Amino acid sequence: MGKKVAIIGAGASGLLACKYTLSKGFQPIVFESASTIGGVWTKTIETTKLQTPREVYQFSDFPWPSSVTEDFPNQHQVLDYIKSYAHHFDLLKHIKFNTEVCGIEYEGSSEDEMQARSLWGGSGEPFSSKGKWKFVVEDKQSLSTEIYVVDFVILCIGRFSDVPNIPEFPSNKGPEVFDGEVIHSMDYAAMDYDSARRFVRGKQVTVVGFQKSALDIAMECSNTNGLEHPCRVLYKTEHWNVPDYLPWGVPLACLYLNRFSELLVHKPGEGILLSLLATILSPLRWAFSKFVESYITKKLGLAKYGMVPKHSFLQEISSCLISTVPEKFYDRVQEGSIILKKSPSSFSFCQEGILVEGESSPVKTDLVILATGYRGDKKLKDIFVSPTFQDYIAGSPNATLPLYRPLQGMNNPCRRVDG
Ligand SMILES: Cc1cc2nc3c(=O)[nH]c(=O)nc-3n(C[C@H](O)[C@H](O)[C@H](O)COP(=O)(O)OP(=O)(O)OC[C@H]3O[C@@H](n4cnc5c(N)ncnc54)[C@H](O)[C@@H]3O)c2cc1C
Ligand SMILES: NC(=O)c1ccc[n+]([C@@H]2O[C@H](COP(=O)([O-])OP(=O)(O)OC[C@H]3O[C@@H](n4cnc5c(N)ncnc54)[C@H](OP(=O)(O)O)[C@@H]3O)[C@@H](O)[C@H]2O)c1
Repeated sequence: MGKKVAIIGAGASGLLACKYTLSKGFQPIVFESASTIGGVWTKTIETTKLQTPREVYQFSDFPWPSSVTEDFPNQHQVLDYIKSYAHHFDLLKHIKFNTEVCGIEYEGSSEDEMQARSLWGGSGEPFSSKGKWKFVVEDKQSLSTEIYVVDFVILCIGRFSDVPNIPEFPSNKGPEVFDGEVIHSMDYAAMDYDSARRFVRGKQVTVVGFQKSALDIAMECSNTNGLEHPCRVLYKTEHWNVPDYLPWGVPLACLYLNRFSELLVHKPGEGILLSLLATILSPLRWAFSKFVESYITKKLGLAKYGMVPKHSFLQEISSCLISTVPEKFYDRVQEGSIILKKSPSSFSFCQEGILVEGESSPVKTDLVILATGYRGDKKLKDIFVSPTFQDYIAGSPNATLPLYRPLQGMNNPCRRVDG
């Protein structure tokens, strides 16, 4: 009998983990709190598309169907693709839907033993002879709970859902003093498309943030309200959001996403040779970055809007948080149906809207949509009962998040690898 592996989450990652563990002869059980598979792709805003080219968002053993010819398929096509992967490999029978996993614990080792452990099961091997993982699962329909004990757990709970990153405000300066409404982009995405349009129609909307959710939602608001009620975008940091993946005609992947480009960056634990090579090649790293920056600046006319970021493109791409700019976004800025407003430090609420630090008159608004991202780190931490395991999940909403505990002497062994 194969070892029991619990996989938490049935998005793209959980399905992939399920297929892989089966192929290795394990016994996977996938717990999914929703009633369906697909994770983030089950509820997105209307204009969401894949922002990574299709060929780099593909299961290596299951190509996109020939019917999908778009470079950037829409959310329905992505969801269908993920679903057909699950059907093709007959994974559905391993999934328990409407079951939420809470409180994972490791049984068999004391807290001291756990702290002294190095990797995996304590021995460098994934399966420990000493203990098992135990957790409570709640059936979201009957509200009954059940306890499971397994040999190994794979967390595929996603980083960009469930726990929104909500800015903190001093008392009397938060949404409670505002006469209008405040929602998070997650709430906007949860609405069906017609309801979302109706919800913003005729309102002065302020979107907070300047990454993918903010850009897309601002674009949708401008589609609905046009010049009559321009959508304000309140941003803290300008970003190198890309218009396409072909700077000056050169595929971005040739500059950054190949084995050679890996040699350009210093890596944790690198030896002297690799370190020397990365140092010698640093002018090339700088040149690639300037090359892309000049293209984005020119193509989007960033200088005209005062939107040239202070940091380098290299920094942006190293954070793995590159967003694509919706087509014609800056045309909307030019015509005035999207208004960009910088709030370099903090902002607060007043009765009529938002107060940007250092300004006396408020940004008058009816509705604030916080497109301020997610607390993936908190979600991961909270799933563990033991503070020892919680502490292994280092990081913050803006920081690199090691996916497993850092090895001694390494600060950031893993970079964020998501969209
Ligand atoms: C709108 C949007 C668009 C994106 N577009 C791109 C893109 O174009 N390119 C790209 O590379 N990346 C993109 N991403 C990043 C995206 O997160 C990944 O592409 C990928 O789909 C994430 O899959 P996942 O399985 O890791 O997580 P998710 O899709 O978030 O799935 C996690 C699953 O775990 C379940 N779950 C969570 N907690 C529990 C629990 N305690 N118990 C049981 N079940 C639980 C959730 O219900 C969910 O179904 C996008 C993200 C968002 C939000
Ligand atoms: N494929 C698609 O179409 C699509 C659509 C939506 C989302 N996504 C993906 O989903 C993930 C999440 O994207 P996201 O846009 O929701 O979140 P995000 O990338 O985490 O961006 C959050 C934004 O909110 C700002 N912010 C955070 N805290 C703030 C505060 N206190 N005050 C003011 N601004 C604040 C950040 O500003 P700073 O940068 O200044 O910190 C940033 O601009 C990303 O991987 C993204 O690519 C993809």
